Amino acid sequence: MMNDNSTVVVRPARNIAGTLQLPGDKSISHRYAMLGALAEGTTRLENYSTGADCASTLGCVKALGANWERTGNQIVIHGCAGNLRAAAVPLDCGNSGSTMRMLSGILAGQDFTSELFGDESLSRRPMARIIKPLQEMGARINSSEGGKPPLRIQGGNLKGISYSMPVPSAQVKSSLLFAGLFAEGETRVSESVRTRDHGEIALRAFGAEVKREGTEAIISGGQKLHAIEATIPGDISSAAFFLCAAALFPGSQLVIRNLLMNPTRARLLDVLISMGLGITVQEMEERHGELVGTIQVEGRKWKGGTLAGGDTAALIDEIPVLAAVAPFTEEGLEVRDGRELRVKESDRIAAVAANLRAMGAVAEETEDGLKIPGGQKLRGAEVDSLGDHRIAMAFAVAALRAEGETKIHRADAAVISFGEFFTTLQGLVEN
Ligand code: S3P
Repeated sequence: MMNDNSTVVVRPARNIAGTLQLPGDKSISHRYAMLGALAEGTTRLENYSTGADCASTLGCVKALGANWERTGNQIVIHGCAGNLRAAAVPLDCGNSGSTMRMLSGILAGQDFTSELFGDESLSRRPMARIIKPLQEMGARINSSEGGKPPLRIQGGNLKGISYSMPVPSAQVKSSLLFAGLFAEGETRVSESVRTRDHGEIALRAFGAEVKREGTEAIISGGQKLHAIEATIPGDISSAAFFLCAAALFPGSQLVIRNLLMNPTRARLLDVLISMGLGITVQEMEERHGELVGTIQVEGRKWKGGTLAGGDTAALIDEIPVLAAVAPFTEEGLEVRDGRELRVKESDRIAAVAANLRAMGAVAEETEDGLKIPGGQKLRGAEVDSLGDHRIAMAFAVAALRAEGETKIHRADAAVISFGEFFTTLQGLVEN
């Protein structure tokens, strides 16, 4: 693999082997940084995500008055005990939908006006999903046409609502629960499909009470948060790239330590096992309500299968890499119910299909998914990340089994979640 800044060349590999630990989970890092900024006291976070998205969150909370220092992957945040102050400049959320959507919940509860903007990709992403319920709670929010960024939020005087999310989204759920901290009465958020629960778990870790009744998460306003000291578990969505790389090589062996195993995220492991990958859990413990463990992985047969409904929702961030390696499965991969893939950092359905075709494979795009036959070969080609981190990394993995070398353009997009991805992959590859 060579790097001329933004194009990476990936050569075919013979095998994958090694032991690794991943930078902190992106979803948890965002939430801990936001809640640490609001809490009373000093929050110490080890293994904070190294991704640019989580740095965007840190930049925003600093602009809102919560100071922090970073030493390597340790972040020390001096919480402002609920007293954020208006930022002097618009808040730059970069490429990060999580930053914009979740921070909007907090800002909706503040007695001042904030502006949030993002890069070209974020500027195309839907924000109506948070604007509507936050307005119902009492915030005044202006956006660009069609509910797109930038956002202008005049916060304060919120009242709790009971909200049933039309699109199941953990970002929306967290945003509303964070707003609920500042609202009068109870805020109830219900979901038809179970989404990741890091918002609820993080709120409890910082000392708030969050109840769960059936499909609803419930928070009462006026609760104070207290600082924590935590080591953030390794990002399971980043681990997915190495798990799929292992799946490509029967006999490959990987050990992944300090891995996030939260059940709302670890469905990935169950699905990979059902598709043929050997995964055994070696140890597991709980940290601040999150499960963390060590897994041993062995490449075996790679069968493939179908993802639909709750599985698609639970694996939404891992579908690009599962789809990129699908040509090498025995039965292929069908993804249904994945309309949300079209409004991520890129249109991930179109991006995966285009890149697979560039590598000589058959890949059918449907409105809400993909159909990729198994038993195919890929040939090395030029592919484009479209500036989307997960597309860049997904095709680096697929390229390990292609015939000939693959050039990945705009591969530097990987920095959004995992800047060390290419060097980590290189360390595991046997050529
Ligand atoms: C995330 C939730 C998911 C996911 C995103 C991170 C989170 O998005 O795709 O990468 O941290 O809550 P949605 O909430 O839009 O489903």
